Amino acid sequence: MKTWNVGIVGLRRGRGFVSVFGAHPRVNVTALCDTNEDTLTDLGEAFSLPDSALYTDYEQFVNADADIIMIATPIRFHAEQTIKALQAGKHVMCEQTAAYTVEDCEQIVNTVKQTGLGYMMAENYCYFHYVRQWRDIVNQGKLGPIYYAEAEYVHEIEHLLIDGDTGNYFWRHERPPIWYCAHCLGPILTLMDDRIIAASGSHAGFHKHPDQTDHLGFLDMEVGMFRTEKGALIKIARSQVAPRYPHMVYYSLYGTRGYVENGRNGSNTEGYLWLEGETPDGENGHPQAEEIECSVIDPDAPEEAKHGGHGTSEYYMIREFLDALENDVKPPIDVTRSMDFTVPGIIAHESAMSDGNWRDVPLFDW
Ligand SMILES: NC(=O)c1ccc[n+]([C@@H]2O[C@H](COP(=O)([O-])OP(=O)(O)OC[C@H]3O[C@@H](n4cnc5c(N)ncnc54)[C@H](O)[C@@H]3O)[C@@H](O)[C@H]2O)c1
Repeated sequence: MKTWNVGIVGLRRGRGFVSVFGAHPRVNVTALCDTNEDTLTDLGEAFSLPDSALYTDYEQFVNADADIIMIATPIRFHAEQTIKALQAGKHVMCEQTAAYTVEDCEQIVNTVKQTGLGYMMAENYCYFHYVRQWRDIVNQGKLGPIYYAEAEYVHEIEHLLIDGDTGNYFWRHERPPIWYCAHCLGPILTLMDDRIIAASGSHAGFHKHPDQTDHLGFLDMEVGMFRTEKGALIKIARSQVAPRYPHMVYYSLYGTRGYVENGRNGSNTEGYLWLEGETPDGENGHPQAEEIECSVIDPDAPEEAKHGGHGTSEYYMIREFLDALENDVKPPIDVTRSMDFTVPGIIAHESAMSDGNWRDVPLFDW
């Protein structure tokens, strides 16, 4: 089995990836990059890397001794850094979302095609334990054809939009909520094995922060409606300022023979499942969904899975990426799927900021 050398850029979120890649028996973390020297030095020491493995300059880092570059910088850098890494002959795993514009997404797709290298967007929520469990239910056809799905990702992160002490804005202030749609669309489209072909959007305005109208990250709530290739309808609601605690990601899928949903009270929740012909009726003789545990942690995962964040999801995500590279097949969230999870949010926002009408969503095939 091959051992992979991995370089990681963007060391706040990337810190977790140093742990999870580093704990993998087939990986050596050989290079780190961050424009913040203190962060870089701190992480180099924490993971016992020599100074020669630490880079503040991406151009030099991208030519370091690495087979794979993991990109965990703010999203505005993803496209350029992805393309440079691929052009330097590296496989890429990139945090989500893939890019901020359709043009950048197209360039990433073209560069993956030209280089033939592996690219996977790190949409970790697809690997939540309960999402993996639901996949079995859906794949066995137990829900029947899915015609409607919803997701809500409501996470108040005002401290990541603006510095409360200085009033300076952080990078997320420029990110309209619905651009960050992959945590919602990733699991849903994976479960539905479907793609989005049209999008419309709407937003609730700036009620909570009426003085922040130039900073789209402060939109109270942004909603996207999506039509899929198979004829289903999807609704996504997104906010990064709504005072809703605990923060949550919620999914529900409706098929002709049943439905499934998780709870809205945090990460590990109780949800509901109802399956025609399988779920026993309630005590009153009426159909009654059964309560199901929806945990992000796989209790049977190996010990090294605990090094990753978001339950055991990041361990499985990285394992599948490495397996794909090793077997020379496309990663599960390959460049086509990455754009399926990214582009609809860009188009929904375009609609939300103008007429709210439906627009076609370009599909990038490879
Ligand atoms: N999948 C998830 O659950 C999840 C969670 C949090 C963040 N993220 C993603 O991770 C990425 C980073 O988010 P964050 O919260 O760590 O951001 P952050 O702003 O807290 O940290 C970014 C880090 O990157 C460094 N950096 C900034 N620009 C750089 C550049 N051009 N080159 C090299 N280093 C640079 C900064 O110094 C900082 O250390 C984003 O894409 C975000 O969407 C994903």
